[in-house]
Amino acid sequence: MPSRSNPVYCAIDTVDLPLAARLIRSVAGGAIPAVGGIKLGLEFFLAHGAPGVRYAFPAPVRATGIGFFLDLKLHDIPNTVAGGIRAVVELEPTFVTIHTAGGAAMMKAAAEAATSEARRLGVARPRLLGVTVLTSLDRSDLEATGIPAEPAQQVLRLASLARESGLDGVICSPLEIAALRKECGKDFVLMVPGIRPVGTASADQKRVMAPGEAVALGANHLVIGRPITDAADPALAAEAIARDLGVL
Ligand code: C5P
Repeated sequence: MPSRSNPVYCAIDTVDLPLAARLIRSVAGGAIPAVGGIKLGLEFFLAHGAPGVRYAFPAPVRATGIGFFLDLKLHDIPNTVAGGIRAVVELEPTFVTIHTAGGAAMMKAAAEAATSEARRLGVARPRLLGVTVLTSLDRSDLEATGIPAEPAQQVLRLASLARESGLDGVICSPLEIAALRKECGKDFVLMVPGIRPVGTASADQKRVMAPGEAVALGANHLVIGRPITDAADPALAAEAIARDLGVL
């Protein structure tokens, strides 16, 4: 038995409900799931909502103990974001994302809502992860929004604010892992997309890193989408990554 759990969350980025269900069953439905979790994001959730989650990612698959990352990237006033969090707690996500740029009050309201609603329903509290600076923004984009900072510096500032405001971790690029681990301590969750197994195409991801390297730098979880979902056999592709990481 491997001593570590599988860190890979497979991103299911599609509005095709039967396809999502098939992909989830193939990578997560076996006796030994090939991934540690499933990520469903805006594309899927806006199209199919909570009923779509229950259909594509049903309780028997969840019962294997697999993680569920609901990547909603909420950003609104505190009361509205808190309401959004309360609305999804019944789906029992392991992780939900909110934007750190919404400010400390918003993040605190979201964290309190997650705690109180989970207690009310008697379910596990979802852990909240912050989105800091989108990797699509560079220094000049930040400046144009009135923030005269290097993106790397702004990422650290927002991650610290997130930690102080009760968030459990952040989403970060592979290049930010080392600095964030140092800044935010060993218990802060770092969920890292932009991961490409050696020998696969990088597609539109510009700064990529291999799975083992990201874990060695301090990533807790890796988000991997197309290298698994576009493979001829997604389960085999996921198993190869897990074996490479020594978790299968
Ligand atoms: O297919 P791929 O492995 O590139 O999928 C990466 C997933 O991670 C997608 O769901 C994407 O939205 C998400 N993501 C990302 N880069 C970020 C933040 C999130 O690719 N900076």
